[in-house]
Amino acid sequence: MSSMRLTRRQALQGAGALAASAWLSACSSGGTNSVATPSGDSTRKGTGEPFVEPVVLRSSGGRLDLSLTAAVATHAGAASGALAYNNSVIGPTLRLRPGDRLTIELTNNLDDATNLHTHGLAVSPTSPADDVFVSVAPGENRTYVYDLPEDHRSGLFWYHPHLHGVVATQVAAGLVGAIIVDDALDDIETIATSRERLWVLNDPTAVDRAVSSMDQMHGRTGSSVMVNGASKPTFEVTPGILERWRIVNASASRRLPFAVDGASLALIASDGGRLAEPIDVQGVVLSPGERAEVLVVPPIEAGSYQVTGDGSGGEIATLVVAEANAAAPTLPARLVDPSLFEIGAVTARRTLRFGSEMGGGMMSGGGLSFTIDGRTFDPERVDIDTVLGEIEEWTIVNDTCMDHPFHLHVWPFQVVDDDGWPGWKDTVNVPGGGQVAIRIPFVGHTGRTVYHCHILDHEDIGMMGVVNVAPTSM
Ligand code: C2O
Ligand code: CU
Ligand code: CU
Repeated sequence: MSSMRLTRRQALQGAGALAASAWLSACSSGGTNSVATPSGDSTRKGTGEPFVEPVVLRSSGGRLDLSLTAAVATHAGAASGALAYNNSVIGPTLRLRPGDRLTIELTNNLDDATNLHTHGLAVSPTSPADDVFVSVAPGENRTYVYDLPEDHRSGLFWYHPHLHGVVATQVAAGLVGAIIVDDALDDIETIATSRERLWVLNDPTAVDRAVSSMDQMHGRTGSSVMVNGASKPTFEVTPGILERWRIVNASASRRLPFAVDGASLALIASDGGRLAEPIDVQGVVLSPGERAEVLVVPPIEAGSYQVTGDGSGGEIATLVVAEANAAAPTLPARLVDPSLFEIGAVTARRTLRFGSEMGGGMMSGGGLSFTIDGRTFDPERVDIDTVLGEIEEWTIVNDTCMDHPFHLHVWPFQVVDDDGWPGWKDTVNVPGGGQVAIRIPFVGHTGRTVYHCHILDHEDIGMMGVVNVAPTSM
């Protein structure tokens, strides 16, 4: 597969950083969601807060059952206007295996309606599973049941509310959590013996924030990027022990260029699971919703090293090597069989266009709306009709000045451009003025769900469409 031949530089470009900045210089209306400067001196060393990870809930005997309560956060250190699942700064991490049944009883103790979405899981889009068209009123409960297929790919996924109109507000206020699907790929020795860390990155904003038209145009951003809810945590690594990091950009709208001073990264998975082989990169640029998994060879010299990732070169965490050590761990050469990336011949092609319009009503922030194919979201309308078994190629053309990360529920895709991300994905940045082609095998599930821009402020003002996958016609 051609995208496996990525150079280090192309991998970074594919993730969007250079393309976005090049476009900005030509685009008078501005149009980046990543330039907010964090408050305080971003060059100072870590605060010494420990690197904490969310509580882990692990399936056993093929099942994981849990209660998830969405409410105003009251835990120690909760910011005013923060929301939380189970009163934890980041919701519990759900660890599953392919074939498992996940049952979540969602209780809504918020003042507003909400619902739940399992971003990236290839599960049914129909109730009681990943149905984003339902609404759970304040004070009500809803039970979600998700059956992971036996062949579900391993990887990092996440959950968050998906009620159109309030998604950005609820996600930005803290309603996020990670989902990890493990399988035999995780038994490769170098990977199994590495030190795993989860990085849930976000830049929280209060639930009662007055959303400005600038927030709607560029996507709201908070003042600083947090790591698992902590500000600039410090952690110590052991030279000679490989680190394996799973990273999710769980911010509502901020693009995160993630890198480690003094350490090289090997990309081993993108949104939809494992790559065929590790790819050396200087860093990864994650659009809102995107994930990456990297192996990190710790620096061999003792010292403190910055982990950067807030979009302005600021430090988000500090890596400490207490003791110098010359032994560098070796990386695995092969991760999974490349045949897992083969998809059949394309059976249908479509073009989707991202646009923006002025002159909408008050609901669209004084006139701005973002559109797909000239329309804003209508839950009653089906925009794309297809049939189980089709293998579609969608070319997503961005007619606006700013980047829009495209996301499709339920059916992972591959980016077909040579400079794209390799492997399976569910979210991909479409640079301002640019286009991206993806291939989607509509297999495994039928039903109606959505595709949208994952700058959640854009999704909330209408940059979303509906796809329906019908059972095979007779
Ligand atoms: Cu992360 Cu439609 O969602
Ligand atoms: Cu999603
Ligand atoms: Cu957008």
